[in-house]
This record gives sequence, C-alpha cells and structure tokens, in this order.
Amino acid sequence: MNDYRLPDLKQARRRGPYQAPIIRDALKLNETQKSLGRDLFYHVITYGCQANVRDGEVISGILEEMGYAHTELLEKADIIILNTCAIRDNAEKRVLGEIGFLQNYKRQNPSLIIGLCGCMAQEEEVVNKVLKSYKNVDLIFGTHNLYELPQMLEKIVVGKQKAVSVYSHQGSIFEGLPSHRSLQYKASVMIMDGCDKFCTYCIVPYTRGQQRSRLAEDIIAEVQQLCQDGYKEVTLLGQNVNAYGKDLPENGDFAYLLKKVAETGIERIRFTTSHPWDFTNEMLQAIADYDNIMPYVHLPLQSGNDEILKRMGRRYTSEEYRNLFDRLKNTVKDVSISTDIIVGFPGETEEQFQDTLKMVEYCKYDNAYSFIFSPRPGTPAARMEDNVSMEEKKQRLARLNERLDYYSKSNNEKWVGKTVKVLVDGPSKTNPEIYSGYTPQQKLVNFTLKEGKVGDIIDVLITEAKKNSLNGIQE
Ligand code: 5AD
Ligand code: SF4
Repeated sequence: MNDYRLPDLKQARRRGPYQAPIIRDALKLNETQKSLGRDLFYHVITYGCQANVRDGEVISGILEEMGYAHTELLEKADIIILNTCAIRDNAEKRVLGEIGFLQNYKRQNPSLIIGLCGCMAQEEEVVNKVLKSYKNVDLIFGTHNLYELPQMLEKIVVGKQKAVSVYSHQGSIFEGLPSHRSLQYKASVMIMDGCDKFCTYCIVPYTRGQQRSRLAEDIIAEVQQLCQDGYKEVTLLGQNVNAYGKDLPENGDFAYLLKKVAETGIERIRFTTSHPWDFTNEMLQAIADYDNIMPYVHLPLQSGNDEILKRMGRRYTSEEYRNLFDRLKNTVKDVSISTDIIVGFPGETEEQFQDTLKMVEYCKYDNAYSFIFSPRPGTPAARMEDNVSMEEKKQRLARLNERLDYYSKSNNEKWVGKTVKVLVDGPSKTNPEIYSGYTPQQKLVNFTLKEGKVGDIIDVLITEAKKNSLNGIQE
C-alpha cells in the first residue's frame, strides 16, 4: 500500500463562503532536510502563466534552503522539476513528451529525481496516467503544497519511496516562503490565487482552488522591500486581479490596492489578468491618476458573440465589453490594450465567429493571444456538443490572426518618430550589440544601447515598427 495523496475533481469543484487561512510558518526544515541538497544541483522547467513562473521562483527558493544549487544544465542536475500548465491540451502533451525525454538523463544518473508539479499535477486523469505509464517520475505535488517539498524529498532520498501529494481543497495563503527571484530589477508579486469565475472552458478554478487574496498590508510590505532592494517594476499577479479583496472583509478592493502600491513610489506597476466583469470606475481612475501605474491593460474578450459569451459563462455582453473598452480608452491617456480570444468554441457558427472579427475591427488591439478551443477534462464546455471541424477552426484562427497582426503592426507604427521610456532588459541572444526592453505600454523595443545597463530606464527614439516589436536608438 502506498500513502499517496491524489487529486480529486469533486473536491476541487467545491465553493462556498470562504476566508482562507494565512499560514506564516509553513516551511519547517529538520536537520536532514537542511543538508539534503548539499553539493547537489536542481533545475526547474516552468510552463504556462506568470503565476506559475512565480511558483517556480518559490520552488527554487525552497530547494536552495535545502542546500541545492541551481544549474542551467540538465545533465548536471540531481533534481529536475517540471512545473506544468494545464490550460490547453498541447501544453500537456509537451510535458509528457519532456518526461519521456528526461529518461535519458536518468539512465546516466540513476539517482536523478524527476518531479512533476503545477496545474497538471492537480488533474486526476494526468496523475493516474503518470503513475501508470511514466515510472521515471519520483515526485508529484500540487499547487497547494509547495511547502511540503522538503518532507517529500526526504521521503524519496532517505526513505527510497515515491512521494505524491496533491490537495484539492480550497487553498490557503502562504506568507514568507523563500523564493529565488529570476531578475533583480523586475518582480512578480502574487496578490491572490485561485479563481471563482468558472468560465465553462477553463480548468483554472479546479487546479488553483478558490479565490483567496493576500492582505493588502502583506503585499505593500513586499513591494516596499522590493523598492529597497532596487527593483524598478512590479507586476501584481492573480487569475482575476480585479476581484482582489472580495474574499476579505475590511480590506479594500483592487482600486485601493493599486493606489497603495503606487504610493510606495516604485517606478513601474503592472497587473494581470483583468476580467472585464469586475472592472470598476475607481480602478480606471487609479490607473489614470498615478504615473507609475503603466497604461497597459490585458482585457480578455474570448468571443465577440453574445450567445457564445453566455455559453462560456463570461457574464458580460459584447456591448458591455465595448463600453468598458471605450471607458478605458477615454480615461487612461495613451492606454494600450491586449486581449485573449478563443475560436471554435463548441458549436460556434460562422456568423458567431464574424461577431468576434467585428469586435477586433472595433477594438484594434495592440496585442492579442488567440487559441483554438481545447476541451479540458471535468469542465462543462468539454461536455458540450461540438459540430465544428478542426479544419474549420484552424481556418478561423488564421483569419483572426491576419486581422490581429494587421492592427498590432498599425498600432506600432504610431510610435515611429516618438521618444519612449524603456526599461532595459538585456542584450539579445542572437546579437549582443542589440538590447531589448519594454515601454510603459508594454511594447517590446530593440535598440542599440549607448550608455546605461540592465535595469535602467532610458529614452529611446523609435525608428521602425514591426508586427511584434519596435526598433529604436537610445537618445
Ligand atoms: N481552450 C482554449 N483556450 C483556453 N484558454 C483558457 N482555457 C482554454 C481552453 N480550454 C485561453 C483563454 C484565457 C487564456 C489564458 O487561455 O483565452 O484567457
Ligand atoms: Fe496554466 Fe492556468 Fe495553471 Fe497558469 S493557472 S499554469 S495558465 S492552467
């Protein structure tokens, strides 16, 4: 008999009035765990969204507390962790392929530990499949139990057993876990985790649990510390940041949090993702009022057709979305807006798809991410009848992308001849002479750096517009 704690979809569906417990001392290492990684190396491979990237930083931080050191080289690693995403089937297929590939390293180093965590680890079907068919995986843990990593690794190394621990409960808030931040001038700050919106296509409410917001005072303290450490930019992260605080009595909402974070004086503040449903006028005004809140909003549309929006469970109509879009454009000077769109939702007709195209013509997005609907196990949309062929879905995606590309290029062209502020990221991989960085509107700029260094904010004159980036020279 094993003592695996396996994911459970029924549990993951549970919602109710809930205020998540705040756990401040979850990580307790015994003497064995503190030295388990001495002279050993780890490598974390992260897929998916920025929340997952942030979890990857925490996982790295915990492994370093145990004495492991980071390596870029897979062949040098003693532990490799795949921090996975479940949003679409192709993301999952890539991970399963990668697990197969890692077997080569295990042949060379039989004590190599291979771990699977993140959103895929929250899925019953996936965990059962991995346990049955991917015997080289030693460790599986979910999004709610990063702090258990030391116990699990001790069980594997000392106890010579597999460790599987996935909770499907509503979730807690962990404060004070260590983290190894990947950059020293830009940081992500989780302000909440989980989601209660239950869009019918989306797996996130099941993989990340019930919405739970961190206390504003804890978030502000983290941003203040980042300021002191010389960070220039923070991105406030959550599956739906506009609903921030709704689960906390006496805390204040996202508009309140934005203002408080702006008042720390950090140079740049970004936030993602915003659900159109929860966007209030106070939030718009806060973005407009503070110079250090960047004029860039990611506002997922998903579909421009009311019937499809209803079946997606999005809770807004195309007209309501358009009104919000107009209010944003009218309130926040020079705002840039990006979006997510799904084509080929079950039963989507050509006319319904054309409503999405019409919306794109109206909004002329600065940037967009477009996807073919992917049925996710356990979600309502996966059970809906779908009579649209894959061939048709692919054609719709191509037609949509042609329009999205057109508008992203024409929006970029408006910047030619202007001088913009760019936060310097670093030299390009292919040409060390060319640096890149982002403008306040989240436009990627490639430029020649005359003076300054990574992490500086400099003036760049834009000389050329491309579809996904701008070229320029430092002023
Ligand atoms: N199929 C296709 N795209 C999806 N997204 C979320 N779930 C699915 C799915 N099942 C897209 C949405 C979301 C983005 C992060 O991924 O557009 O905004
Ligand atoms: Fe992927 Fe969503 Fe999980 Fe992020 S929250 S890793 S996008 S499934």
